Amino acid sequence: MHYPWWYVPSLTSPMLIAMIATIHVFVSLYAVGGGIVLAGEVSYAYKVNNKSLLDYLRSHTLFFILLTVVFGAITGVGIWWTISLSSPLATEALIHIFVFGWAMEYVFFVLEIVAAFIFHYYWGRLDPKVHKTIGWIYAVSAYISLVLITAITAFQLDIGNWTPDKGMWVAFFNPQTFPQIIARSGASLLLASLYIYLHAAFKLKDNAQLRALVENRTSKWAMAGAALVTVGGAWWYVNLPESAKAALAGASALNILTLLIFTASAVVFFMLYFGPYRNPGWLNPGFAILYFVIGIAATGTGEFIREGVRKPYIVYNYVTGNNVLISEIPKLQATGYLNGGTWTKAFMKAHYPQVFGTDGNIDGNKLLQLPASDQIKVGEVLFQYHCNDCHSTRGFSGVAELTRGWSKGMIHTVVTHLDKAHFFMPPWCGTEAEATVLTEYLQSRSEPVPEGMKFSNINSRENTLAEKVGRGEAEK
Ligand code: HEC
Repeated sequence: MHYPWWYVPSLTSPMLIAMIATIHVFVSLYAVGGGIVLAGEVSYAYKVNNKSLLDYLRSHTLFFILLTVVFGAITGVGIWWTISLSSPLATEALIHIFVFGWAMEYVFFVLEIVAAFIFHYYWGRLDPKVHKTIGWIYAVSAYISLVLITAITAFQLDIGNWTPDKGMWVAFFNPQTFPQIIARSGASLLLASLYIYLHAAFKLKDNAQLRALVENRTSKWAMAGAALVTVGGAWWYVNLPESAKAALAGASALNILTLLIFTASAVVFFMLYFGPYRNPGWLNPGFAILYFVIGIAATGTGEFIREGVRKPYIVYNYVTGNNVLISEIPKLQATGYLNGGTWTKAFMKAHYPQVFGTDGNIDGNKLLQLPASDQIKVGEVLFQYHCNDCHSTRGFSGVAELTRGWSKGMIHTVVTHLDKAHFFMPPWCGTEAEATVLTEYLQSRSEPVPEGMKFSNINSRENTLAEKVGRGEAEK
C-alpha cells in the first residue's frame, strides 16, 4: 500500500513478470543443469582420454556461456525490474526476510561467472585436474543459486512455521523447499540435455559416431532428470497448502495445463528412452528441435502452474496478490483503501481535497457527493490499486468482460465480497463508499449482454449471486 502502482495496459504487470520469468527459467535451468552435465562429461572425457569428445564439449561450452551468461543475466535483471515495479511490497518483504540469502546468492553468482569464463578461455591451457575442478566449482555454485532462489519461490507458496519475528532459516526450510528443489534439479538436467541434443544434432551432423556417444551419455542425465521431476512434482502436490490444491482443482486453465504437463513429460520420457538411449545417433536436427520445444513447453507450463496456484497470495498468508499485508486489511476496511496508501492519499489530496474530513481522513459521505464523472475517476484509481494486479480493464482477465451484462447491484455485491465470489480473490479492503465508487467505474466499463440473447432479462443472475454470497456469510 505504500507504493505507487504500475499500469501495464491489457496485460497487467504480473503477466509481464510471468513472461520474462518464464523465458529466464528456460535459460537459468540450463545454466545449472548444463554446468553439472558439462563438468561430469569433461571429467569422463579426460578419464577415457577422448580428444574428440573434449573438442565437442569445448564448442558446447561456448554456446552455453553465450546463452546463459549473456541472455540469462539480462533476463534475470529484467525480473528484478518487473517484480519491484509490479509487486513492490512483496519484493520488499522477500528482500528483508531473505537478506542473507540474497547476499549468498550474489557471492555464488560472481563465483559462477568467473569459473565459467576460466573453464572456457583456459581450455587446453590448464592441467586436466585443475580444469575439471573449475568445471565443478561452476556446477556447484550454479546449483547453490538454484537452491537459494527455489527456497524463496517455495516460501511464497507456503510460509510454513515462519512468522515475522522468526529468522531466515525458518522461512528457508518451508514445506515446499525440498519438493521444489528436487523438481527443479530434475528439470535443469532434463532441459540441459535437450539443449545438448539441439546443439549436437547440428554441430555433429557429419560425425555419426561422436554424435551417438554424446547422445547416449546425455540421455542418462536426461532420464535421471525426468525421474527427479516426477518425484519432486508429486511431492510438491502432496505438500501444497489446501488453498493451492483447491485453486489447481478449481481453475479450468490450470486443469488443462496440468494435463498438458503430464502428457508432455511422458512423451519426452518415452522419446528419450526409445530415441537417444536405445538408438543413439538417430537424433536428427528436426527431432532435436521437436524434443526441445516439448521440453520448453513442459517447463514453462510447470512454472506457470507453480505461480498460478498461489492466488490470492504473493506470499502465502502474508502479502495478497494486490500487494496488501494481510495484517493491514482490517484497518483499511475501517478507514479506507485510499486513506491507507501513501500515494493514493496524496493523489486524493491533490485532486479532491474537498473529500477530506476534519480528522484528516477521507469522508465516505463526501466521496459520494462528488459528481458522477469524478466518482468514476476515483473508482478507476481504486481499480488500478486494488484489482489491476490480477485484472485488466479490457484484456487479460478483463473486468469489462467479466461483468458483461451485470447490474450495478451484482457488481457491488461481488466487489464487497470478492473472496466469497471466488476464494482466489483477496477480500475487499476498503469502505462501503469506496466500493460504491469502484462499482460506478466498473459499470461504466462493463460490456452489454451480446445482442440477440433473448433470455438475458428473464433469468437474472443477480439473485443467484446474492444468494451465493449470502450462503457464504451464513456458513461463517
Ligand atoms: C489475486 C488476484 C485477484 C485480485 C486482486 C482480484 N481478482 Fe477478481 N478474480 C480473480 C480471478 C482469478 C478470477 C476468476 C476469473 C478469471 O480467471 O479471469 C476473478 C474473477 C472476478 C470477477 C468475476 C466473478 C464472477 O463471479 O464471475 C469479477 C467481477 C472480479 N474478479 C472483480 C474484481 C475486482 C473488482 C477486484 C478489485 C477490487 C478484483 N477482482 C481483484 C483474481 C483476482
